[in-house]
Amino acid sequence: MEQKPFGQTNLTVTPIGLGLAALGRPGYINLGHGKDLDHEYDVAAMEAHSHTVLDAAWETGIRYFDAARSYGRAEAFLSSWLKNRQIDPASITIGSKWGYTYTADWQVNLPQGQKHEVKEHTVPVLQRQWQESQALLGNQLNIYQIHSATLDSGVLENEAVLAELARLRDAGTIIGLSLSGTDQAETLWRALEIEFDGQLLFGSVQATWNILEQSATAVLTAVHNAGVGVIIKEALANGRLTPRNQSPDFEPKLHALTQLAERHQTTVDALALAAVLNQPFVDVVLSGAAQPDHLISNLAALNVKWRPDLANSLLGMREETAEYWQIRSNLSWN
Ligand SMILES: NC(=O)c1ccc[n+]([C@@H]2O[C@H](COP(=O)([O-])OP(=O)(O)OC[C@H]3O[C@@H](n4cnc5c(N)ncnc54)[C@H](OP(=O)(O)O)[C@@H]3O)[C@@H](O)[C@H]2O)c1
Repeated sequence: MEQKPFGQTNLTVTPIGLGLAALGRPGYINLGHGKDLDHEYDVAAMEAHSHTVLDAAWETGIRYFDAARSYGRAEAFLSSWLKNRQIDPASITIGSKWGYTYTADWQVNLPQGQKHEVKEHTVPVLQRQWQESQALLGNQLNIYQIHSATLDSGVLENEAVLAELARLRDAGTIIGLSLSGTDQAETLWRALEIEFDGQLLFGSVQATWNILEQSATAVLTAVHNAGVGVIIKEALANGRLTPRNQSPDFEPKLHALTQLAERHQTTVDALALAAVLNQPFVDVVLSGAAQPDHLISNLAALNVKWRPDLANSLLGMREETAEYWQIRSNLSWN
């Protein structure tokens, strides 16, 4: 897989990257997550499983890997894989995130009122999680992202946090932010105004964009043109854009997608990912696959011939932004 410059940074990325959200902890919201892991939650078994998927990604040429402090042991599993396989740090790019603390204590089903992760965008959390990420990944960590920056979280108005991030940027880390929810676009427009010493603070953004949720198109185009690297997450809408989605409401769209996939001799997930890969503002699309065969199926996106009629059919499936995020918020941890 070809490696290209990531925005105006000195990093390179492959068009498809591997996200570790589903690999580092037993509980996640993706459809069928529990079944993927065969309900095998022993730490050593999960580490071995994550290494199998990382090996598969490596074999296919994937060279961007995405983690977060809150993905359970994702950074630790990535770190042990890098050491075991003696991966040359210069050959890959790694992003992680701070701002959510993992609190599920390796449990899938938590008692009422207890949370899987707790969000806090403050200087003490940034400093603590930076040290934790550094202890595991050291100078192999290239991009450090605010995890789910929103206007509500106030993080983009928090001068002390921004100054601390600018300090990390000046010491050589690319600073990024990930977005979520109906105000993705508004948040990113705000982020694009933040400069330190005449330079944008953020060199990277990770946003949700898929054929159902396209509301950030204009702002992603603007940041891309400004030299910010663009990473796309949830390209399969957390598994909703796969045959695994059995929701009766989605049946007409899944039927249309299945027919299109047959006509183009590919899979539904490959078509959905191809729609993202072919947007001019995209640098890297994350696969959230927790199974090697799903990863291979996702990679078929690279072979889809992108044509105007296909683009029209796929991009015509968008949902209202508010509706999309309402459905997203109803996905349960499993
Ligand atoms: N706020 C944030 O910063 C944020 C939020 C969400 C995600 N992310 C990042 O984005 C990455 C990817 O996002 P995502 O987890 O939402 O991924 P996604 O690509 O939208 O969805 C992944 C889901 O699709 C399923 N899938 C993929 N191919 C399939 C196939 N051929 N057949 C059936 N099911 C298939 C996967 O199943 P299997 O698991 O069985 O393979 C998984 O459940 C994450 O790992 C994380 O790094 C960041």
